[in-house]
Amino acid sequence: AFRGAVNGFQSRAYSQVAKPRHLMSISDLTPSEFSSLVRNAAARKQDTVAMMFSKRSTRTRVSTEAAVTMLGGHPMFLGKDDIQLGVNESLYDTSVVISSMTSCMVARVGPHSDVTGLAEHSAVPVINALSDDFHPLQTIADFLTIYEAFPSSLSSNNTLDLNGLKVAWVGDSNNVLFDLAIGCVKTGVDIAVASPQGYGIPDHMRQLINSAAHGVQSPGKLSETTVPEEAIKNADILVTDTWISMGQEAEKQKRLQAFAGYQITNELAKRGGAKDNWKFMHCLPRHPEEVADEVFYSPRSLVFPEAENRLWAAVAALEGFVVNKGVLE
Ligand code: CP
Ligand code: NVA
Repeated sequence: AFRGAVNGFQSRAYSQVAKPRHLMSISDLTPSEFSSLVRNAAARKQDTVAMMFSKRSTRTRVSTEAAVTMLGGHPMFLGKDDIQLGVNESLYDTSVVISSMTSCMVARVGPHSDVTGLAEHSAVPVINALSDDFHPLQTIADFLTIYEAFPSSLSSNNTLDLNGLKVAWVGDSNNVLFDLAIGCVKTGVDIAVASPQGYGIPDHMRQLINSAAHGVQSPGKLSETTVPEEAIKNADILVTDTWISMGQEAEKQKRLQAFAGYQITNELAKRGGAKDNWKFMHCLPRHPEEVADEVFYSPRSLVFPEAENRLWAAVAALEGFVVNKGVLE
């Protein structure tokens, strides 16, 4: 705007540009203009989604930013070095302040208590974008992927009915597994988990997974073993995730040793007796030690549709919890 105005000289080009309207004082506004700015401010407050990520992300970040934009909002990405949380400011103060200016907080954290702590003090919905315990957005995308690969009907009470399917999880018992297993129990999918000794499902989590059967007519059943072949027997879908989740980097060598023999290969699937038409899923990011290229990049692999489905899962979650204010049915 100052181009051409140097040394008191105004170019012809500059003088032809319509002058912008400035806001110097409320005295510049008519009463109705002033009121409309206040009203618009109230309406716009609904539009910003704070994305507070204390860990790296490709899929969750891109899908959430894209979903917020598709729904007409503004995603505000706040990485761990961008805000005062954890360094200069408490979870309580952060939650109260950010939720006062936004319509939702999507948070990726370490301890699950960080995301429940944010939720406890928040005036707006909080969506877990991965904690050490759960990854609900991933599970919604995973079930969309299963639903598309194994078309099935809705049962009379409008719930997904995937009865008869079996998932085999071969690998670490982690955050992605816990929500996936809860989703399986709720939709009638049997889930068999094979993890090495010492890397199985903690007792309190097993209880939570099994309690998901409450009120479900034919819930899926959870079974556990340390033998991959046992879990794979008659499975429709083989699933795994990294053996070293974010935050566990110091345990890398120990874990690589503990999980030796758990890599998903065609040979393992055959030896274990997976169904002929078995499919493979993985939330990504993937490392070759947990699944061989011959599976990961094969026609059995659903990993890229699964990743794309993160977008539609994010749209559904934001629509449900933010636009529809948690009225989900
Ligand atoms: N699956 C998943 O959550 O990926 P990102 O860590 O890249 O978000
Ligand atoms: N279990 C992994 C999932 C990453 C999407 C982790 O927590 O790092």
